[in-house]
Amino acid sequence: MVCFRLAPVPGSGFLLLCLVLGAVSSYALELNLTDSSKATCLYAKWQMNFTIRYETTDMHNKTVTISDLGAATYNGSFCGDDQNGPKIAVQFGSGFSWIVNFTKEASSASTYLVDHISFSYNTNDNTTFPDAKEKGVFTVNYRVALKIPLNEMFRCNSLSTLENSDVVQHYWDVHVQAFVQNGTVSTTEFLCDKDKTITTAVPIIPTTVPSPTKPVVGSYSVVNSNGTCLLATMGLQLNITHDKVASVFNINPNTTNATGSCQPQTALLRLSSSNVKYLDFVFAVKNENRFYLKEVNVTMLLVNGSVYSISNTNLSYWDAPLGSSYMCNKEQTVSVSGAFQINTFDLRVQPFSVTEGKYSTAQDCSADDDNFLVPIAVGAALAGVLILVLLAYFIGLKRHHAGYEQF
Ligand SMILES: *[C@@H]1O[C@H](CO)[C@@H](O)[C@H](O)[C@H]1NC(C)=O
Ligand SMILES: *[C@@H]1O[C@H](CO)[C@@H](O)[C@H](O)[C@H]1NC(C)=O
Ligand SMILES: *[C@@H]1O[C@H](CO)[C@@H](O)[C@H](O)[C@H]1NC(C)=O
Ligand SMILES: *[C@@H]1O[C@H](CO)[C@@H](O)[C@H](O)[C@H]1NC(C)=O
Ligand SMILES: *[C@@H]1O[C@H](CO)[C@@H](O)[C@H](O)[C@H]1NC(C)=O
Ligand SMILES: *[C@@H]1O[C@H](CO)[C@@H](O)[C@H](O)[C@H]1NC(C)=O
Ligand SMILES: *[C@@H]1O[C@H](CO)[C@@H](O)[C@H](O)[C@H]1NC(C)=O
Ligand SMILES: *[C@@H]1O[C@H](CO)[C@@H](O)[C@H](O)[C@H]1NC(C)=O
Ligand SMILES: *[C@@H]1O[C@H](CO)[C@@H](O)[C@H](O)[C@H]1NC(C)=O
Ligand SMILES: *[C@@H]1O[C@H](CO)[C@@H](O)[C@H](O)[C@H]1NC(C)=O
Ligand SMILES: *[C@@H]1O[C@H](CO)[C@@H](O)[C@H](O)[C@H]1NC(C)=O
Ligand SMILES: *[C@@H]1O[C@H](CO)[C@@H](O)[C@H](O)[C@H]1NC(C)=O
Repeated sequence: MVCFRLAPVPGSGFLLLCLVLGAVSSYALELNLTDSSKATCLYAKWQMNFTIRYETTDMHNKTVTISDLGAATYNGSFCGDDQNGPKIAVQFGSGFSWIVNFTKEASSASTYLVDHISFSYNTNDNTTFPDAKEKGVFTVNYRVALKIPLNEMFRCNSLSTLENSDVVQHYWDVHVQAFVQNGTVSTTEFLCDKDKTITTAVPIIPTTVPSPTKPVVGSYSVVNSNGTCLLATMGLQLNITHDKVASVFNINPNTTNATGSCQPQTALLRLSSSNVKYLDFVFAVKNENRFYLKEVNVTMLLVNGSVYSISNTNLSYWDAPLGSSYMCNKEQTVSVSGAFQINTFDLRVQPFSVTEGKYSTAQDCSADDDNFLVPIAVGAALAGVLILVLLAYFIGLKRHHAGYEQF
């Protein structure tokens, strides 16, 4: 089970939404069709439901919804041969039949078409279609004519709808590849237009850490030929807002890898995990004496399989002198866009001038808020020196005193 915290925006309270993913995906249809040599020739996985309107004997219009397809069979599905293109044929319920066929166009060697979708239902089934006025098998046919590159997996997680006056068909979580080459399903995806745009992606983020908890602090570093060149210690929480709903999840350092690069004027920390393809922090030098966080790029996989990407190359956070580190223990927010924020906890970063793999003195973020110009660490160092001087003086006095007593 996976839980998401959803916050209305502006947040006036939280609601915890838990989805049993198994149940959601259990209606998925899947077909792995193999040819005579047992090599995969067609692969498809998808979900669909139907709403059918029919007229009753007492002259009313009634609608029925077919969403639990139960135990579907795939009789008649076919790899294709010289005469006929491949097709997927599905039978379910009492007399429902759904068929999609594919064609290779003579005009193009690099694409094929999802040609027609045909759906049949039988109103003789008086449990599904009680009081149907007209009994018999009805078929609706659509020419889809969707062009797909050969050797790519078509993917459309977004909802697609085919509609006429009697039948509404919904499809989602669609993955299909016909004309599979050499028995190997492609890892390259050809996305439908809806999946390409962020706005249609449902930002439901899988998380095993319910978001109200503070994220675990992770230590990340980047190493080049001169040794460790970038250090970062922080707890990270990502906050995506979509349709006025915020989803918040924590980065688990245990399952997150850090890579990156260090150049004299720029440094990159890239975090990646199974659902965060990458989360890039790009640091830059300004005025030859300070560094700051300049860019954040993120690409994530959402639980519905779609990709969420956002980037801002014009940020200005975590500003500190070169040769020092930037530190902030309290929660801080990096606002990448109106819809994407990163909350940081117990942050310390040093993207430049790391020596011996250790942090240099820190400039604390309280300097940001309070116009407090003396960095805390320097202040602490000054205080330390003062204590040492006092201590030395005190020990000296004691020794002197002791000496006095001894002699
Ligand atoms: C997430 O972002 C929304 C919109 O900016 C904000 O209202 C909400 O407080 C944020 N939640 C957290 C936990 O940062
Ligand atoms: C399809 O079936 C073949 C043969 O049984 C198998 O090797 C292949 O991994 C399967 N592919 C998928 C995507 O399930
Ligand atoms: C069909 O599935 C879609 C997507 O999950 C859903 O929005 C819609 O309500 C379903 N329709 C019916 C009639 O169950
Ligand atoms: C049922 O729907 C059809 C198509 O929309 C319409 O032509 C017909 O008049 C409707 N019948 C009733 C009884 O509402
Ligand atoms: C599959 O379809 C063929 C021809 O349509 C039929 O002969 C066969 O009995 C069907 N098999 C099953 C398991 O339904
Ligand atoms: C696909 O199906 C449609 C309708 O069922 C049919 O008209 C068309 O000829 C078929 N195409 C191929 C290549 O089989
Ligand atoms: C449904 O059809 C069967 C046989 O065709 C019939 O015996 C039964 O009475 C029908 N049920 C209803 C509710 O019409
Ligand atoms: C399929 O195999 C042939 C010969 O082994 C090779 O030339 C071709 O590139 C392969 N195609 C794909 C899509 O892997
Ligand atoms: C390693 O350090 C040397 C001397 O400071 C410097 O010239 C060189 O560019 C550094 N190499 C890398 C990869 O940072
Ligand atoms: C990370 O791993 C440590 C031990 O390896 C474990 O104690 C801790 O609970 C893990 N944290 C998370 C958030 O999974
Ligand atoms: C992290 O890196 C290790 C070693 O390179 C790799 O085995 C692991 O899959 C990576 N994990 C993620 C989440 O990328
Ligand atoms: C971040 O994204 C921007 C815009 O897409 C791009 O110009 C930049 O090169 C990316 N930076 C990194 C480190 O990938």
